[in-house]
Amino acid sequence: MSTWANLGLQDSASPLMEQLIFFHDHALLILVMITVLVGYLMFMLFFNSYINRFLLHGQLIEMIWTILPAIILLFIAFPSLRLLYLLDEINEPSVTLKSIGHQWYWSYEYSDFNDIEFDSYMIPTNELENDGFRLLDVDNRIILPMNSQIRILVTAADVIHSWTVPALGVKVDGTPGRLNQTNFFMNRPGLFYGQCSEICGANHSFMPIVIESVPVNYFIKGISSNMNS
Ligand code: CUA
Repeated sequence: MSTWANLGLQDSASPLMEQLIFFHDHALLILVMITVLVGYLMFMLFFNSYINRFLLHGQLIEMIWTILPAIILLFIAFPSLRLLYLLDEINEPSVTLKSIGHQWYWSYEYSDFNDIEFDSYMIPTNELENDGFRLLDVDNRIILPMNSQIRILVTAADVIHSWTVPALGVKVDGTPGRLNQTNFFMNRPGLFYGQCSEICGANHSFMPIVIESVPVNYFIKGISSNMNS
């Protein structure tokens, strides 16, 4: 959950986001090593005066500094591909949520349960409660069970939107006329915030997403009290 003075993104709440963070750290470490090495070499070149009039070619060093970067890139490419395919894997979801982007709000449908559907608007700053998050809280939250595979279907009604929740490692475009699919698994309860991240018009910044992750029995209770409403 977000707390005050929390400037970065929310902590990870799903195994896929955990893997994404591991991959980020791995790539960053390689990047730092390359930057330090190249920085060191450039620095030393400025402060030496070695000259060799007969140096015209160096086959061996050319071989090394061509092949070595290619091998280093493989160490980024393979884990990246592994994650890419892992993100696309759907493992028998227990709940399906459909989210539809509109200018400028999200609407949701729990198609599994007797057609529960609702709109989710941002709460304007002047109507915010004292404990609310400005530009981030909504009037109707998505309630979903923790420790369950959840499938989301994303689409849009007018222009392209993007359903993005950093804590879950989810970022899917909602495109008119198309239905995109992804899935996630929440490993703890809490409130997970997201925002639209496809420039979709004047109020693009004002269509946030709030997911309330609750234990499964709470979810069933909540869903059954909303039936036939
Ligand atoms: Cu919807 Cu940006």
